[in-house]
Amino acid sequence: MTHNGPSSRIPGDRFLHSPGPTHIPAEVLSAMHRQPMDHGDPRLDDIIANCEAGLRRLLRTAQAEVFLYIANGHGAWEATTENLLAPGAAALLPSTGHFSEQWARQLEATGRRAIRTTYRPGYPIDASEVEEVLRADTRHEIAAVFAVHTDTASGITHDLAAMRAAIDAAKHPALLVADVVASLGAAPFAMDELGVNVAVGASQKGLMSPPGLGFIAVDARAAQVANRNTAPRHYWDWNRRRGTQSYQKFCGTPPQNLLFGIEAALALIEREGLEAVWARHALLARAVQAAVERWSSEGALQLHCRVREARSTSVTTIEVREGIDVEALRTVARERFQVAFAGGLGPFQGRAFRIGHLGDLNAAMILGCLGGVEAALAVQGIAFGRDGVARAVACLAEGSSLRARSSRDQRTAADVRS
Ligand SMILES: Cc1ncc(COP(=O)(O)O)c(C=O)c1O
Repeated sequence: MTHNGPSSRIPGDRFLHSPGPTHIPAEVLSAMHRQPMDHGDPRLDDIIANCEAGLRRLLRTAQAEVFLYIANGHGAWEATTENLLAPGAAALLPSTGHFSEQWARQLEATGRRAIRTTYRPGYPIDASEVEEVLRADTRHEIAAVFAVHTDTASGITHDLAAMRAAIDAAKHPALLVADVVASLGAAPFAMDELGVNVAVGASQKGLMSPPGLGFIAVDARAAQVANRNTAPRHYWDWNRRRGTQSYQKFCGTPPQNLLFGIEAALALIEREGLEAVWARHALLARAVQAAVERWSSEGALQLHCRVREARSTSVTTIEVREGIDVEALRTVARERFQVAFAGGLGPFQGRAFRIGHLGDLNAAMILGCLGGVEAALAVQGIAFGRDGVARAVACLAEGSSLRARSSRDQRTAADVRS
């Protein structure tokens, strides 16, 4: 929920359901509401160390180094490219949609080669095509597979384990680089277990913090590749950012207040427990998708992801029938009902809208969002199955009973053991 500005004061909060930036918890906002420190203050070093260690735990890696950047996700992408790929070098980008395409274009704009797989709208990528392309690359010109875990435009989560298996089956030395910008803290991810060499993220989604911090976790093999890379670089250079001084780690002044917030956000995730955070996201996503399935029964709307298991726990993309004005729907929802959701991106512009359901959210917030969307659909005269919210309520009620039962069972099992 966001507060409205003084000129448009209405009672209560506006519900923010974009898939990033997301709602910022009060604990994070108040942690940021502090004066900065001088560069030499050891307390600042401690906060940076806490952020790095917390990110390592969130990424489930025991061994990767973490580099922090004053940058958004695009900046973190570029840092990855500059460190891993020499000009003219190639990466394979499984075509997940808008975000793999934007990443590919960034590679090409900086003089690298981007190889794409077939784009299959509505479906997760086919890892066998990744294997095929890598097998055909007998000279090992492809230095890395740059894979988007959750493509925020399509609302589809892709199978990183299958991509790692494809690289291994092809006996190819390419690194696996995962964009977890939209999935981290919302969907299960374990860098070491998955054999991901580099993970790329940003602050404004599952991390429940303002935009402005990009981060990259790098394993030893990727660090070696970077050391051999002769591409000229300075600000992005991982080697220049190693060291103990905060000024060196950030290649300049660290974004202190953002770091105060991220430290607090990581502590909140740890207090809830990462598995519980993933389970909460899965349940809220199921509720949203149950509502959308019901709304879709009148034929004007449709879930974009055709494969249930691949539906994202962060964001749901809803296609609309031709003639429906998505921007008008968003405006009505935001201005009359205080629910802000996202429009379609790239090829989906004007053809879809997206409900973000990641970060600091609970069942009541999701129901408020769905109610606001339903009200806006009604105002716009769009045909929809009327009991979408009721479906979401049923889903949440069932899911919360299961969760309560399983935590009671766990407590009982623990009592028996003790
Ligand atoms: C999967 C994914 N990767 C990269 C980006 C780019 O991040 P940013 O907008 O912070 O530059 C986004 C943004 O939404 C994203 O969803």
